[in-house]
Amino acid sequence: MYQRNAWYCAAFGETLKNALLPIAVLNERLVLFRRSDGTPVAFEDSCAHRRLPLSMGRLDGDRLACAYHGIVYGMDGKCLRIPGEARVPPGAGVLAFPVVERHGFVWVWMGEAAAADARLIPDFGGADDPRLETANLHLKLRCSYLLHVDNLLDLSHIGFVHATTTGNAAVVEEGAVTTECVGDTVYVKRRQSDIPPPALFAEFGGFTGRVDMWQITAWTPPCHVRLNYGAVPTGTPVPAESALYWTNGDWGFRVFQCSTPETERTTHQFRCIKFDARGAAGDRIRHYRGLFDQVSLEDAPVLAAQQAALDADFRRSPVELDSRIATASDIGPEHMRRILARRIDAELGRGAAATMVAE
Ligand code: FES
Ligand SMILES: [Fe+2]
Repeated sequence: MYQRNAWYCAAFGETLKNALLPIAVLNERLVLFRRSDGTPVAFEDSCAHRRLPLSMGRLDGDRLACAYHGIVYGMDGKCLRIPGEARVPPGAGVLAFPVVERHGFVWVWMGEAAAADARLIPDFGGADDPRLETANLHLKLRCSYLLHVDNLLDLSHIGFVHATTTGNAAVVEEGAVTTECVGDTVYVKRRQSDIPPPALFAEFGGFTGRVDMWQITAWTPPCHVRLNYGAVPTGTPVPAESALYWTNGDWGFRVFQCSTPETERTTHQFRCIKFDARGAAGDRIRHYRGLFDQVSLEDAPVLAAQQAALDADFRRSPVELDSRIATASDIGPEHMRRILARRIDAELGRGAAATMVAE
């Protein structure tokens, strides 16, 4: 189940060039490309004639020609020409989706076109900050987007799944967790005092002694998450509570995550990390990016195995967890599922349902 009236990331702007880029979002096959002035365009990836994927076609300026019988489409999806035919049937064309490029992400509106409102694009300001280094990753996850958002909202896993990078045992054992809903945004704040720095902080941040740390997650519907990791040496003042959201202290990093559903059981992870490389360059930067990628690659098999376990239980839906233990760290994910279920029900014109709530 998806919220359709929403913006979903379908590509990083830097990967969308002049080529035709096929991608499936919410079980729909799209083709993305740029028109001659650079504006991104998204069509259904299916010719209106005999359904050949338009991503196999040819883009010539502001015209897209199908590779099979050469039917030509304009940038609004309308059919302009049928080779060998004198006329084009009225209304012939393919679906064109509203698209906006912002903060380095290409956003596609998957619902009613008339309801598309660019003000509803998540605030990923800072993802395009040129003062910081960037580590972008597009990874296909073999799990529901809900399991991935759960993972981002519950960082109690970082002491185990990411024990050699962003986490260690103390980050979990000494973590004070608070969860807060502001409208339909869910914030989960984790703070630790006087702990040894995780490996990635020791290496990148240069921390040699113990540290005070924070990790703040903010989810906005349907699948967009900002995370902020920060640290200071123990004994130096920690920024005020309200400033922690986007302050990194002496060293940390910011993560902008889109968990775009491809199907019910597969997800496009678009992850942008912004970090202070402290003057490093070349191979050193590549090393940093490699370690950040390692973090996502550590999550991927866990999420795939979790999805496979859910799928193996024929009594339940593919996202129903049936948890028999509730932890303080589950509160954020439960708020997320409840809010999303309410929004999907509202879109479908239904009353409250509990199918997506982990209970
Ligand atoms: S299938 Fe595209 S022109 Fe025939
Ligand atoms: Fe993780």
